[in-house]
Amino acid sequence: MSSLGNKVVVITGASSGIGHALALVAMSRAAKVAVCARNIEKLKAAFPGVADDKIYFEQTDVSKEEDCKLFINNVIQKWGRVDVLINNAGISMRALFEDTDVKVIKELMDINFWGTVYCTKYALPSIRQNKGVVVGVSSIAGYRGLPGRTGYSASKFAMQGFLEALRTELLHTGTHVMWVSPGFTASNIRNVARSANGSIQGETPLEENKLMSAEECAKIILDGVEQRKRTIVITGQGKLTVLINKLFAGLADKLVFKHFLKEPGSPLLRYHPDQKI
Ligand SMILES: NC(=O)c1ccc[n+]([C@@H]2O[C@H](COP(=O)([O-])OP(=O)(O)OC[C@H]3O[C@@H](n4cnc5c(N)ncnc54)[C@H](OP(=O)(O)O)[C@@H]3O)[C@@H](O)[C@H]2O)c1
Repeated sequence: MSSLGNKVVVITGASSGIGHALALVAMSRAAKVAVCARNIEKLKAAFPGVADDKIYFEQTDVSKEEDCKLFINNVIQKWGRVDVLINNAGISMRALFEDTDVKVIKELMDINFWGTVYCTKYALPSIRQNKGVVVGVSSIAGYRGLPGRTGYSASKFAMQGFLEALRTELLHTGTHVMWVSPGFTASNIRNVARSANGSIQGETPLEENKLMSAEECAKIILDGVEQRKRTIVITGQGKLTVLINKLFAGLADKLVFKHFLKEPGSPLLRYHPDQKI
């Protein structure tokens, strides 16, 4: 039996993409799950027919501390405990920094970073009691800043720094802290990514059906939780990027620029020395 059997797994941002797949895979491993998102109708509709004793739903905006506190307290009231917290809720962006309204960077930090801090703060006492696991769903952008994604990269670096410090504090307590960095995974994240003025991009520059499925990504994450891995960089491309960045940072700048220049409609075109590209 999976070590998640009968454990309470809390997942933020579970109405689509990786969070949704995490909840389904965790339930298939006999965990009870508590899920949240801002749009409660969409969240509930994503889990048709799942019985009340398997799933708990809450409308939560993780950028609001009071929402996170209420969510975690209600989970503890319903299930009596939290064993695993997966800080997954997140948004992205695509715009050059010089064009980007500062409020966009703040929104990314509020959701991706502060959402992680708030939920972890209120869940940690119970997780400590149960010697459970705190997880952050990060990104390669948490190891290597990505052009056109300044706020996203900052939020994931901040998340990783927070979780690494917390892991070290808790080293001798039996409570585990980890983060995972998916590669490009099919989801809604690019469709709802923020543009320079904070509006929703409304399209993806990638062929989503050619990316890793959210289900495959979720299985790798939950295997890692069960094995209490420190960090997981999921894809080969991600592992190579992290390695090259560590060993040859200048080369990494050039390769990353080149990669993102090739995206359809890349904002980096403006900065390319040969603008005919
Ligand atoms: N997909 C990828 O290629 C990829 C790669 C690396 C890392 N990641 C990370 O994976 C995580 C999940 O992303 P995804 O790709 O699965 O995106 P997604 O399909 O857009 O799902 C994001 C989920 O988060 C929720 N959410 C967004 N803002 C929220 C808020 N303020 N409060 C509560 N819930 C919120 C969304 O629901 P509502 O909008 O209704 O709130 C939705 O359920 C993110 O942290 C992302 O950075 C994704």
